[in-house]
Amino acid sequence: MDRQEASKRLEELREQINRHNYYYHVLDNPRISDAEFDNLMRELLELEALAPDLVTPDSPSRRVGGEPVSSFGEVRHRVPMLSLENIFSEEELGNFYRRLQRSLEQEELEFVGEPKIDGLAVSLYYENGIFRQGATRGDGYTGEDITHNLSTIWNIPLHLREKVSAEVRGEVFMARADFQDLNLKRAELGLATFANPRNASAGSLRQLDPKIASARPLDIFAYYLQDLSGTIGLHTQWQTLEYLQKLGFRVNPQVSLLQGLDEILDYYRRLESRKAQLPYDIDGVVLKLNDFAKQQQLGYTSRAPRWAVAYKFSAEEEITTIKDIKVNVGRTGTITPVAELEPVLLAGSVVKRASLHNEDIIKEKNVMIGDKVVIHKAGDIIPEIVRVIEGERTGRERSFEMPSLCPSCQKEVKRLLGEAALKCLNPACPAQLVERIIHFGSRGGMDIEGLGESLALQLYEAGLVRDVGDLYYLQKNELAELERMGEKSAQNLLEALEKSRTKPLYRLVYALGIRFVGERTSRILAGHFRNLDRLAHSNTEELLSLEEIGPKIASSIKEFFAQQETRIIIDKLKRSGVNFGEKIKDEKTVSAVFKDKSFVLTGSLIRYNRQEARELIESRGGKVINSVSAKTDYLLTGENPGSKLKKAQELGITIVTEEDFLKMIIN
Ligand code: IVH
Repeated sequence: MDRQEASKRLEELREQINRHNYYYHVLDNPRISDAEFDNLMRELLELEALAPDLVTPDSPSRRVGGEPVSSFGEVRHRVPMLSLENIFSEEELGNFYRRLQRSLEQEELEFVGEPKIDGLAVSLYYENGIFRQGATRGDGYTGEDITHNLSTIWNIPLHLREKVSAEVRGEVFMARADFQDLNLKRAELGLATFANPRNASAGSLRQLDPKIASARPLDIFAYYLQDLSGTIGLHTQWQTLEYLQKLGFRVNPQVSLLQGLDEILDYYRRLESRKAQLPYDIDGVVLKLNDFAKQQQLGYTSRAPRWAVAYKFSAEEEITTIKDIKVNVGRTGTITPVAELEPVLLAGSVVKRASLHNEDIIKEKNVMIGDKVVIHKAGDIIPEIVRVIEGERTGRERSFEMPSLCPSCQKEVKRLLGEAALKCLNPACPAQLVERIIHFGSRGGMDIEGLGESLALQLYEAGLVRDVGDLYYLQKNELAELERMGEKSAQNLLEALEKSRTKPLYRLVYALGIRFVGERTSRILAGHFRNLDRLAHSNTEELLSLEEIGPKIASSIKEFFAQQETRIIIDKLKRSGVNFGEKIKDEKTVSAVFKDKSFVLTGSLIRYNRQEARELIESRGGKVINSVSAKTDYLLTGENPGSKLKKAQELGITIVTEEDFLKMIIN
C-alpha cells in the first residue's frame, strides 16, 4: 500500500469508526458487532504505526491514550464556569419560581429539567469541529488542561458532525456498575479502592498518563454550548440540547421541557423515585429557564446564574455492610442498638454508625449482623438504615439479641409497659451519668466548651465528677493532672464553667436532662416558674395548666424532682451559684434536722470550706462549736480527721460523713 492509499484508507477508517461510535454511544443503536468495530480500530492503529505522520488530532487512536504529560497546563475559561445555587425544599423552589415570575413579569415559565449528574464538570473546546482542548472546572475561572485524558473518553467526539467552533460543557461520570467492577479489580490487585464513582472519575481525570484514563470506564453527558462561531443561532436550552446531540454528544435521556411549577415538581419527584434505577448517580435535578433572552435579562450573581437552580434530593442513599451491632446507654437509661457500619461516604460525610432505635425496628426491618444495607441521611443529617438487601445474604449473617443486662452497669434492663425502648433503671449507671454530663454541657444546655464525650468520661472515671453538680467544684490542680489535659486546658474548662453559671434559667432546665423536656418545653417551664426551686416544687395541676404540657411530661417532671439524686444535684448547683432564676424571698427555712443541734467539724471537707459548712448549718437553725463534749450532737468528718474523731467515738456522738451531711441538708 503506498502513502496515498494509506492516507485514503486512514480517512475511511476514521470516518467509519467515528460514525459507529456515534451509533453506539450517542444513539445507543449499534449497526455493527463489537468484533467488527474492534477490527476497524486494530487496522487503524496498525496503519498509523506504520505512518505516524498521517495521524490527525481527531484520530480515534487517541482513545487508547497517547504520550503521558509531565504536568497539567492551565486553561483560562473563555466564559467562567459558574456553580449553581442549591435548593432543598418545595418551599425554596416556590420562592425561586416566584422570584423569576416577578422579575420577568410573566405568569408561566418554561424550564428545562435535567438530572444533576454527580460527576465533574469539564469544558471542551472545539475549533472548526475538531477537539482542541479540554479542561477541568478548577476555580471556575482557570482549570487544568486534561485534553489527553478527555480524548480517551469515547463519548467525547474528537470530530464534530458540523465544522463549528464552540465550547461545550458537560459532566464526566462513571456508571455505578463500572465503578464496582473497577473497585473489584483494584481490590484484587491490592490497590486502594475509590470511595464512590465521583472520586473514581476525578482520580482518572487527574492522571498524567492518558493510558490510565483510557482504561477507566468514563462517560459524559453534555449540557451546555457556547457558540464561538457566532453562526449557530440557538435561542433556548432545549434547542442547545438537541443541537449537542446532532453534533455527536450524548445528552441525558431524562431531560424534559417543563411548563410551570407543577410540572417542575412532578419532574423532581419522578426522578427522585427513579434515581436508584438509573445506572449512574444523580443528586438532584438542575432547572434551567429555557429562553436565552430571558436568561440574559436575569443575569448572574457573582457565583451563579439567576436563571437556574440545582434542586437537590433530600437524602442520598448508599450501600454498606453492618459489621456489628452494639448497644448504647443514653442519659435516661434508654438502651439503643447501634449498627457499626463499614464506613461509606454519604451526602458529603463519612458514615460509620447508624441508630437502629429499638428492638421492634430491628425485627421490622429484619436486620442481621453482616447484612448489606441501604442507608440514607434522614433530613440530610442523621444516618439511617432504609432496608436490608436480603438478596445479598450469604447465610453467614447472625441475628442480634438485645442484652438482658445493661452493658454499662450490668444491672437488669426492662421494657416498660407501652414503650418500645429497653431501659436500664439504675440511676447510678455510669453510662447514664456520663451521658448526662455530656448533655448538661451541650450546646443547647449550659454550653460548656470543651466538655465533650471524652472529657466527660475522663472526669467520671477519675472520680472527679459523679453528677453534674460536681462540675462546679472541680479544682484546677486535679484537672491539670488528667491525661491530655494540662494547665491551659484546665484553666479553659474552669472559665467555661464559670461562664455557664450565669446562663438563663431555661438552659439549666434543659441541661438537667429531664425526660421529654426538650428545649421548647424548657423555655415554657422557665418562663412560667421563673425559678428552679419553684419548678422543683410545682404540683401536677399547675404543670398541666401550661400550654403544651400534658400528663406524660408532667409526670416525668414530678418523678425527676422527687428523686434523691436530683435533690443532691440541685443543692450542689445552687450552692455553687448557678443561676436559678429570680430570687425567692425568705429562702431560709429552719430545718427540723438541724434545729438547735450542735455540730463539730473535723478533717478537710471536699465540697465546702469551713465557712460554707458553718453557713449551711446555721441557716438551718443549727450551731457550730469548736470542741467535742457530751453535749455535741454531730461530728462532721472530712478527710484526715484529727483527735476529735476519737473523742466523739468514745462519747458515742453521731458521726456524719460529708455524703451523710449532704443528705441532711437536702431533706
Ligand atoms: S449546568 C451555570 N447542568 O453541577 C450552569 N450542571 O452545582 C452550571 N452538574 O458544576 C452548570 N449536572 O458539575 C449543569 N445538567 C447539569 C448538571 C450540572 C451536574 C454539576 C456541574 C456543576 C454543578 C453545579
